[in-house]
Amino acid sequence: MGDTTPATPTAPEIATVGVVGGGLMGSGITEVAARAGLDAVVVEVTQDAAEAAEKRVRDSLAKAESRGKITGQEVNEVMERIRFTTDLGLLADRDLVVEAASEREDIKLALFERIGAILEKDDAVLTSNTSSIPIVKLGAISGRADRVMGVHFFNPAPVMQLVELIPSLTTSEATLERMQTFVTKALGKQPIEATDRAGFVVNSLLVPYLLSAIRMYEAGYASAKDIDRGMVLGCGHPMGPLALSDLIGLDTIRAIGISMYDEFKEPLYSPPPLLDRMVDAGLLGKKSGHGFYAY
Ligand code: 3HC
Repeated sequence: MGDTTPATPTAPEIATVGVVGGGLMGSGITEVAARAGLDAVVVEVTQDAAEAAEKRVRDSLAKAESRGKITGQEVNEVMERIRFTTDLGLLADRDLVVEAASEREDIKLALFERIGAILEKDDAVLTSNTSSIPIVKLGAISGRADRVMGVHFFNPAPVMQLVELIPSLTTSEATLERMQTFVTKALGKQPIEATDRAGFVVNSLLVPYLLSAIRMYEAGYASAKDIDRGMVLGCGHPMGPLALSDLIGLDTIRAIGISMYDEFKEPLYSPPPLLDRMVDAGLLGKKSGHGFYAY
Protein backbone atom coordinates (compact mmCIF):
# COMPACT_ATOMS: atom_id res chain seq x y z
CA MET A 1 0.00 0.00 0.00
CA GLY A 2 1.26 3.41 -0.86
CA ASP A 3 1.58 6.33 1.51
CA THR A 4 -1.87 7.83 2.12
CA THR A 5 -0.60 10.94 3.93
CA PRO A 6 -2.03 13.92 2.05
CA ALA A 7 0.64 16.02 0.39
CA THR A 8 1.12 19.48 1.87
CA PRO A 9 -0.97 21.75 -0.36
CA THR A 10 1.29 24.03 -2.33
CA ALA A 11 0.05 27.34 -3.70
CA PRO A 12 -0.17 27.37 -7.51
CA GLU A 13 2.39 29.29 -9.53
CA ILE A 14 1.63 32.94 -10.05
CA ALA A 15 0.31 33.41 -13.58
CA THR A 16 -1.82 36.56 -13.32
CA VAL A 17 -0.69 39.88 -11.92
CA GLY A 18 -2.45 43.15 -11.18
CA VAL A 19 -0.54 46.40 -10.88
CA VAL A 20 -2.25 49.35 -9.22
CA GLY A 21 -0.81 52.62 -10.50
CA GLY A 22 0.83 52.89 -13.88
CA GLY A 23 3.35 55.63 -13.09
CA LEU A 24 7.13 55.25 -13.39
CA MET A 25 7.33 52.25 -11.09
CA GLY A 26 3.97 50.66 -11.91
CA SER A 27 4.61 50.71 -15.65
CA GLY A 28 8.13 49.33 -15.15
CA ILE A 29 6.86 46.50 -12.93
CA THR A 30 4.14 45.73 -15.47
CA GLU A 31 6.74 45.50 -18.22
CA VAL A 32 8.87 43.16 -16.12
CA ALA A 33 5.89 40.90 -15.39
CA ALA A 34 4.56 40.81 -18.97
CA ARG A 35 8.05 40.16 -20.36
CA ALA A 36 8.25 37.22 -17.97
CA GLY A 37 5.15 35.80 -19.69
CA LEU A 38 2.57 36.77 -17.08
CA ASP A 39 -0.88 38.11 -17.81
CA ALA A 40 -1.07 41.67 -16.39
CA VAL A 41 -3.84 44.14 -15.56
CA VAL A 42 -2.85 47.74 -14.80
CA VAL A 43 -5.37 49.87 -12.93
CA GLU A 44 -5.18 53.64 -13.09
CA VAL A 45 -7.48 56.32 -11.70
CA THR A 46 -8.48 57.96 -15.00
CA GLN A 47 -8.60 56.91 -18.65
CA ASP A 48 -5.90 59.50 -19.44
CA ALA A 49 -3.64 58.04 -16.78
CA ALA A 50 -4.29 54.51 -18.09
CA GLU A 51 -3.32 55.66 -21.60
CA ALA A 52 -0.20 57.39 -20.23
CA ALA A 53 0.75 54.12 -18.50
CA GLU A 54 0.31 52.21 -21.76
CA LYS A 55 2.53 54.73 -23.54
CA ARG A 56 5.20 54.40 -20.85
CA VAL A 57 5.34 50.63 -21.29
CA ARG A 58 5.34 50.95 -25.10
CA ASP A 59 8.15 53.55 -25.04
CA SER A 60 10.27 51.42 -22.75
CA LEU A 61 9.73 48.33 -24.93
CA ALA A 62 10.61 50.41 -28.01
CA LYS A 63 13.86 51.36 -26.25
CA ALA A 64 14.55 47.70 -25.51
CA GLU A 65 13.80 46.84 -29.16
CA SER A 66 16.10 49.60 -30.45
CA ARG A 67 18.87 48.06 -28.28
CA GLY A 68 18.21 44.64 -29.79
CA LYS A 69 17.01 43.19 -26.46
CA ILE A 70 13.59 42.18 -27.78
CA THR A 71 12.10 41.67 -31.25
CA GLY A 72 9.17 43.62 -32.70
CA GLN A 73 7.06 40.47 -32.52
CA GLU A 74 7.93 40.01 -28.83
CA VAL A 75 6.95 43.65 -28.18
CA ASN A 76 3.50 42.90 -29.64
CA GLU A 77 3.18 39.71 -27.61
CA VAL A 78 4.13 41.54 -24.41
CA MET A 79 1.60 44.30 -25.08
CA GLU A 80 -1.10 41.70 -25.77
CA ARG A 81 -0.57 40.27 -22.30
CA ILE A 82 -1.37 43.64 -20.64
CA ARG A 83 -4.78 45.27 -20.11
CA PHE A 84 -4.91 48.92 -19.01
CA THR A 85 -8.09 49.86 -17.16
CA THR A 86 -9.70 52.16 -14.60
CA ASP A 87 -11.74 49.27 -13.12
CA LEU A 88 -10.29 48.01 -9.83
CA GLY A 89 -12.78 45.12 -10.06
CA LEU A 90 -10.61 43.52 -12.78
CA LEU A 91 -8.17 42.59 -10.00
CA ALA A 92 -10.64 40.00 -8.64
CA ASP A 93 -9.10 36.95 -10.35
CA ARG A 94 -5.42 37.89 -9.86
CA ASP A 95 -2.87 35.59 -8.18
CA LEU A 96 -0.76 38.59 -7.20
CA VAL A 97 -1.43 42.33 -6.92
CA VAL A 98 1.38 44.86 -6.71
CA GLU A 99 0.26 48.25 -5.47
CA ALA A 100 2.42 51.02 -6.94
CA ALA A 101 0.25 54.09 -6.32
CA SER A 102 1.53 57.44 -5.00
CA GLU A 103 3.71 57.21 -1.92
CA ARG A 104 0.92 58.43 0.42
CA GLU A 105 -0.32 56.46 3.36
CA ASP A 106 -3.98 57.58 3.03
CA ILE A 107 -4.09 56.51 -0.63
CA LYS A 108 -2.44 53.14 0.05
CA LEU A 109 -4.64 52.37 3.07
CA ALA A 110 -7.81 53.07 1.06
CA LEU A 111 -6.54 50.85 -1.77
CA PHE A 112 -5.58 47.94 0.49
CA GLU A 113 -9.01 48.02 2.13
CA ARG A 114 -10.75 47.90 -1.27
CA ILE A 115 -8.44 45.37 -2.93
CA GLY A 116 -8.55 43.08 0.12
CA ALA A 117 -12.32 42.86 -0.39
CA ILE A 118 -12.08 42.41 -4.17
CA LEU A 119 -9.57 39.52 -4.36
CA GLU A 120 -11.41 36.23 -4.94
CA LYS A 121 -8.61 33.67 -4.62
CA ASP A 122 -7.93 32.71 -1.06
CA ASP A 123 -4.20 32.36 -1.70
CA ALA A 124 -3.82 35.59 -3.72
CA VAL A 125 -0.92 37.72 -2.48
CA LEU A 126 -1.30 41.48 -2.09
CA THR A 127 1.92 43.49 -2.09
CA SER A 128 3.03 47.10 -2.02
CA ASN A 129 5.93 48.69 -3.85
CA THR A 130 6.12 51.27 -1.08
CA SER A 131 9.56 52.16 0.18
CA SER A 132 8.55 53.76 3.43
CA ILE A 133 4.96 53.13 4.51
CA PRO A 134 4.42 50.48 7.25
CA ILE A 135 3.50 47.15 5.63
CA VAL A 136 1.85 46.02 8.85
CA LYS A 137 -0.78 48.77 8.52
CA LEU A 138 -1.51 47.86 4.90
CA GLY A 139 -1.91 44.22 5.94
CA ALA A 140 -4.24 45.02 8.84
CA ILE A 141 -6.66 47.09 6.78
CA SER A 142 -6.74 44.54 3.93
CA GLY A 143 -8.33 41.84 6.11
CA ARG A 144 -5.75 39.29 4.84
CA ALA A 145 -2.63 40.39 6.74
CA ASP A 146 -0.85 37.02 6.43
CA ARG A 147 -0.90 37.32 2.61
CA VAL A 148 0.36 40.94 2.47
CA MET A 149 3.99 42.07 2.24
CA GLY A 150 6.27 44.65 0.68
CA VAL A 151 7.88 43.88 -2.69
CA HIS A 152 9.99 46.90 -3.57
CA PHE A 153 11.40 47.34 -7.09
CA PHE A 154 13.99 49.88 -8.24
CA ASN A 155 13.85 52.42 -11.03
CA PRO A 156 14.13 51.67 -13.94
CA ALA A 157 12.48 48.37 -13.00
CA PRO A 158 13.27 46.61 -16.30
CA VAL A 159 17.00 47.25 -15.71
CA MET A 160 17.55 47.13 -11.95
CA GLN A 161 18.19 43.63 -10.63
CA LEU A 162 17.24 44.21 -7.01
CA VAL A 163 13.90 43.60 -5.33
CA GLU A 164 13.54 44.18 -1.59
CA LEU A 165 11.19 41.72 0.14
CA ILE A 166 9.58 43.05 3.31
CA PRO A 167 7.47 40.72 5.42
CA SER A 168 5.63 42.48 8.25
CA LEU A 169 5.02 41.10 11.73
CA THR A 170 1.85 39.46 10.36
CA THR A 171 3.09 38.09 7.00
CA SER A 172 3.11 34.29 6.87
CA GLU A 173 6.28 32.35 6.09
CA ALA A 174 4.43 30.77 3.13
CA THR A 175 3.75 34.21 1.60
CA LEU A 176 7.40 35.22 1.95
CA GLU A 177 8.58 31.95 0.37
CA ARG A 178 6.10 32.37 -2.47
CA MET A 179 7.41 35.87 -3.22
CA GLN A 180 11.04 34.71 -2.99
CA THR A 181 10.31 32.07 -5.61
CA PHE A 182 8.31 34.46 -7.77
CA VAL A 183 10.96 37.19 -7.78
CA THR A 184 13.87 34.87 -8.51
CA LYS A 185 12.32 32.18 -10.72
CA ALA A 186 9.51 34.00 -12.55
CA LEU A 187 11.04 37.49 -12.82
CA GLY A 188 14.74 36.59 -12.76
CA LYS A 189 15.50 39.33 -10.22
CA GLN A 190 17.64 39.21 -7.10
CA PRO A 191 15.90 39.68 -3.74
CA ILE A 192 17.18 40.89 -0.40
CA GLU A 193 15.05 40.77 2.73
CA ALA A 194 14.45 43.79 4.94
CA THR A 195 12.57 44.63 8.11
CA ASP A 196 9.32 46.59 8.01
CA ARG A 197 10.89 49.95 8.89
CA ALA A 198 10.58 53.08 6.74
CA GLY A 199 13.25 53.07 4.02
CA PHE A 200 14.11 49.36 4.26
CA VAL A 201 17.77 48.79 3.29
CA VAL A 202 18.39 50.79 0.14
CA ASN A 203 16.41 53.97 0.76
CA SER A 204 17.72 54.16 4.35
CA LEU A 205 21.15 54.65 2.81
CA LEU A 206 20.19 56.37 -0.45
CA VAL A 207 17.66 58.99 0.66
CA PRO A 208 19.87 60.81 3.22
CA TYR A 209 22.61 60.85 0.56
CA LEU A 210 20.26 62.41 -2.04
CA LEU A 211 18.89 64.91 0.49
CA SER A 212 22.46 65.85 1.49
CA ALA A 213 23.29 66.54 -2.15
CA ILE A 214 20.21 68.78 -2.43
CA ARG A 215 21.23 70.64 0.75
CA MET A 216 24.74 71.04 -0.66
CA TYR A 217 23.35 72.49 -3.88
CA GLU A 218 20.92 74.72 -1.93
CA ALA A 219 23.81 76.08 0.16
CA GLY A 220 25.76 76.95 -2.98
CA TYR A 221 28.73 74.60 -2.36
CA ALA A 222 28.90 73.67 -6.03
CA SER A 223 26.82 73.57 -9.22
CA ALA A 224 24.40 70.69 -9.83
CA LYS A 225 26.63 69.50 -12.64
CA ASP A 226 29.77 69.50 -10.49
CA ILE A 227 28.06 67.74 -7.56
CA ASP A 228 26.97 65.01 -9.97
CA ARG A 229 30.32 64.84 -11.74
CA GLY A 230 31.97 64.51 -8.34
CA MET A 231 30.10 61.31 -7.53
CA VAL A 232 30.24 59.86 -11.05
CA LEU A 233 33.93 60.48 -11.63
CA GLY A 234 35.11 60.23 -8.03
CA CYS A 235 33.07 57.28 -6.84
CA GLY A 236 32.10 55.45 -10.03
CA HIS A 237 28.34 55.91 -9.55
CA PRO A 238 26.34 55.46 -12.77
CA MET A 239 24.76 58.86 -12.23
CA GLY A 240 25.15 61.71 -9.74
CA PRO A 241 22.72 62.32 -6.84
CA LEU A 242 20.84 65.24 -8.44
CA ALA A 243 20.36 63.45 -11.77
CA LEU A 244 19.24 60.37 -9.82
CA SER A 245 16.80 62.50 -7.81
CA ASP A 246 15.35 63.76 -11.10
CA LEU A 247 15.05 60.17 -12.33
CA ILE A 248 13.29 58.92 -9.19
CA GLY A 249 11.00 61.99 -9.00
CA LEU A 250 11.40 64.82 -6.50
CA ASP A 251 7.87 64.32 -5.13
CA THR A 252 8.66 60.67 -4.44
CA ILE A 253 11.93 61.48 -2.67
CA ARG A 254 10.19 64.13 -0.60
CA ALA A 255 7.42 61.70 0.39
CA ILE A 256 9.93 58.99 1.35
CA GLY A 257 12.00 61.51 3.35
CA ILE A 258 8.89 62.61 5.27
CA SER A 259 7.90 59.00 6.12
CA MET A 260 11.44 58.19 7.22
CA TYR A 261 11.63 61.37 9.32
CA ASP A 262 8.24 60.56 10.90
CA GLU A 263 9.51 57.12 11.87
CA PHE A 264 13.01 57.95 13.17
CA LYS A 265 13.04 61.75 13.79
CA GLU A 266 16.50 61.78 12.18
CA PRO A 267 17.18 65.30 10.76
CA LEU A 268 19.10 63.88 7.79
CA TYR A 269 15.81 62.37 6.53
CA SER A 270 13.94 65.68 6.65
CA PRO A 271 13.39 67.21 3.17
CA PRO A 272 15.29 70.51 2.75
CA PRO A 273 13.26 73.66 1.88
CA LEU A 274 14.50 73.70 -1.73
CA LEU A 275 13.02 70.24 -2.32
CA ASP A 276 9.68 71.38 -0.85
CA ARG A 277 9.65 74.45 -3.09
CA MET A 278 10.55 72.50 -6.22
CA VAL A 279 7.75 70.00 -5.59
CA ASP A 280 5.29 72.85 -4.89
CA ALA A 281 6.37 74.43 -8.19
CA GLY A 282 5.74 71.19 -10.10
CA LEU A 283 9.46 70.71 -10.80
CA LEU A 284 9.37 66.96 -10.24
CA GLY A 285 12.38 65.89 -12.30
CA LYS A 286 12.46 63.91 -15.50
CA LYS A 287 8.76 63.00 -15.45
CA SER A 288 7.66 66.68 -15.46
CA GLY A 289 10.41 67.82 -17.84
CA HIS A 290 12.24 69.92 -15.20
CA GLY A 291 14.02 69.25 -11.94
CA PHE A 292 17.67 69.97 -11.20
CA TYR A 293 18.06 69.66 -14.98
CA ALA A 294 15.77 70.34 -17.97
CA TYR A 295 14.70 67.36 -20.08
N1 3HC B 1 13.93 49.93 -20.09
C1 3HC B 1 14.68 48.93 -20.57
N2 3HC B 1 16.03 48.98 -20.66
C2 3HC B 1 16.63 50.13 -20.26
C3 3HC B 1 15.88 51.22 -19.76
C4 3HC B 1 14.48 51.09 -19.68
N3 3HC B 1 13.70 52.06 -19.20
N4 3HC B 1 16.75 52.20 -19.43
C5 3HC B 1 17.97 51.74 -19.72
N5 3HC B 1 17.90 50.48 -20.20
C6 3HC B 1 19.02 49.60 -20.55
C7 3HC B 1 19.67 50.00 -21.83
O1 3HC B 1 19.11 49.29 -22.90
C8 3HC B 1 21.12 49.62 -21.58
O2 3HC B 1 21.36 48.26 -21.79
P1 3HC B 1 22.74 47.79 -22.53
O3 3HC B 1 23.85 48.43 -21.76
O4 3HC B 1 22.69 46.29 -22.40
O5 3HC B 1 22.59 48.29 -23.91
C9 3HC B 1 21.31 49.84 -20.10
O6 3HC B 1 20.00 49.75 -19.53
C10 3HC B 1 21.94 51.17 -19.83
O7 3HC B 1 21.09 52.19 -20.37
P2 3HC B 1 21.58 53.45 -21.18
O8 3HC B 1 22.85 53.16 -21.93
O9 3HC B 1 20.44 54.05 -21.92
O10 3HC B 1 21.82 54.51 -20.10
P3 3HC B 1 22.89 54.53 -19.01
O11 3HC B 1 24.06 53.68 -19.28
O12 3HC B 1 23.07 55.98 -18.77
O13 3HC B 1 22.10 53.87 -17.76
C11 3HC B 1 20.63 53.81 -15.96
C12 3HC B 1 20.87 54.35 -17.33
C13 3HC B 1 20.36 52.31 -16.03
C14 3HC B 1 19.39 54.52 -15.41
C15 3HC B 1 21.89 54.07 -15.08
O14 3HC B 1 22.22 55.44 -15.15
C16 3HC B 1 21.72 53.72 -13.64
O15 3HC B 1 21.88 52.57 -13.24
N6 3HC B 1 21.41 54.73 -12.79
C17 3HC B 1 21.15 54.53 -11.39
C18 3HC B 1 19.73 54.12 -11.19
C19 3HC B 1 19.41 53.89 -9.75
O16 3HC B 1 20.16 54.13 -8.84
N7 3HC B 1 18.17 53.44 -9.50
C20 3HC B 1 17.67 53.22 -8.20
C21 3HC B 1 16.84 54.38 -7.79
S1 3HC B 1 16.22 54.20 -6.14
C22 3HC B 1 14.71 53.50 -6.34
O17 3HC B 1 14.24 53.26 -7.43
C23 3HC B 1 13.95 53.22 -5.09
C24 3HC B 1 12.75 54.11 -4.95
O18 3HC B 1 12.00 53.68 -3.84
C25 3HC B 1 13.11 55.55 -4.81
